[in-house]
Amino acid sequence: MLRGGKVGLRARHEDDIPILQAELYDDVVNHSRADGRPWRPITPGSKDSPFVVDDKEQRHVPFSVVELDGGTLVGDAMLWDVDNHNRSAHIGLGLLPSSRGKGYGTDAVAVLCHYGFVVRGLQRLQIETLSDNAAMLRSAERNGFVREGVLRSSAWVMGEFLDMVLLGLLAQDWKPDPRARAAARRAR
Ligand SMILES: CC(C)(COP(=O)(O)OP(=O)(O)OC[C@H]1O[C@@H](n2cnc3c(N)ncnc32)[C@H](O)[C@@H]1OP(=O)(O)O)[C@@H](O)C(=O)NCCC(=O)NCCS
Repeated sequence: MLRGGKVGLRARHEDDIPILQAELYDDVVNHSRADGRPWRPITPGSKDSPFVVDDKEQRHVPFSVVELDGGTLVGDAMLWDVDNHNRSAHIGLGLLPSSRGKGYGTDAVAVLCHYGFVVRGLQRLQIETLSDNAAMLRSAERNGFVREGVLRSSAWVMGEFLDMVLLGLLAQDWKPDPRARAAARRAR
């Protein structure tokens, strides 16, 4: 497990899937705002659930986010489209509704940065989010991501085109949180 100050990122467990599916995917508005693919109903238990992990898929690295204190599942996080030639990847993150606004998102982004830059040796991490997603923008900026541009009308969300913000962080600009560094040392 990778540890931050408040949350840990561990492998997906089978019994995480129905919870993530019900609380993240089946909330149509949340899914439509957080994922560029159109929502469609997915049968519980289906292998088509976006939370089912294919361990052979090297480009996507999914994690379940858990509270360090007690191990309760609080969300889904991933590096996606890992490109080992250009040494870049994208960050994706979704927390269960009851776990938002507690600093977990900021902490999970810090842990994903540690994974991307330290464990995988990447050079660039990227986040795309809706321009009105204040919590995601702030979670990224608190970790040193900078706004690199606005992708105008790039997301079709529940009946309208919305702008997305593109944020990037380069390895040399990343200043890891000292608490996360200490936790990573403890985890070795
Ligand atoms: C986006 C998300 C991951 C952020 O995680 P979080 O745990 O809620 O965010 P945090 O508690 O770490 O808060 C980060 C900052 O945003 C602020 N914030 C949190 N919720 C906010 C809200 N609803 N409106 C405005 N600001 C908010 C916090 O005050 C904090 O600011 P600070 O650093 O100045 O104190 C989480 O809210 C979520 O999963 N949302 C739904 C799915 C989603 O949008 N995913 C991202 C798709 S790109």
